[in-house]
Amino acid sequence: MNFEDAVAARRSVRVFRDGAVPRAAVERAVALAATAPAPHHSSPWRFVVLEEPRDKERLARSMGAAWREDLLSDGLKEGAIGRILDRSHALLTHSPLAVVCCAEMSRSHSYPDERRRLAEWSLFAHTIGAALQTFMVALAAEGIASCWLSAPVFCREVVRRELGLEESIEPHALVLCGYASLDYRPRERPVADAGDYLIAPDSLCGREQEA
Ligand SMILES: Cc1cc2nc3c(=O)[nH]c(=O)nc-3n(C[C@H](O)[C@H](O)[C@H](O)COP(=O)(O)O)c2cc1C
Repeated sequence: MNFEDAVAARRSVRVFRDGAVPRAAVERAVALAATAPAPHHSSPWRFVVLEEPRDKERLARSMGAAWREDLLSDGLKEGAIGRILDRSHALLTHSPLAVVCCAEMSRSHSYPDERRRLAEWSLFAHTIGAALQTFMVALAAEGIASCWLSAPVFCREVVRRELGLEESIEPHALVLCGYASLDYRPRERPVADAGDYLIAPDSLCGREQEA
C-alpha cells in the first residue's frame, strides 16, 4: 500500500469480526509510532496492550463506573445512562485487542508557573496524537482496523489504578484494534479540499498587498 492509500484506509471501525490481531503487527505499529516527533527528544509514548478478555472487562467496568458518576452529575436519567454505558462497555469488551496509549510525563520539563506547565503538557498531548495517527495508519496498512476512544482522558486515575501504572504515566487514549466486521461500510468521507482548511489572516504580507 502506498502512503496515500494507507492514510485513507485508516477509518474508525467499532465493530470487529472474530480473529486475533497478531502481536507482531501491533509491535510493528508501535515501532513506527515511536518515530513521531516529540518535544525535547523525550520519546514519551508508552503503550499497554490488552488482549485478555478479563483485562478489558475490568477496565471497561471501572471506566464505566467513573463515567456513570459524571453522567449522574450531568442530570441524566438512569435509563439513558444505562444505554450509554452498555454501548461503551460493549465497544471495549467486543474488540479483539485494545491498546492504552500513555505519556511518560517524567520526560517533560518542569516550570514554576501554570502557563508554561500547561504549554509543556500540551506538547506531550500533541506527540501522543502524532504517534497515534502513525500507529493507526500502520495497522491500516496491514489490513487491521482501529478506533481511537477518548475515555481514559476523563478518568486517568481509574485507568492508572486498573493497569497498575506509575504516577508519572498519563493515559491519553484507548485504541480498539481488530479486523473490521464483514458488513462494515465506512461512512462516506468527502474529498478534502485544502482551501477549506487554509486560513489567511489579513495581517499576512501577501494579504496586505492584495488589499
Ligand atoms: C482525540 C479523538 C478522540 C476520539 N474519541 C472517540 C470516542 O471516544 N469514541 C469514538 O467512537 N470515536 C472517537 N474518535 C474517533 C472519531 O469519532 C473519528 O475519527 C471521526 O468520526 C472520523 O472518522 P474516521 O476516523 O473514520 O475518519 C476520536 C478521535 C479522536 C482524534
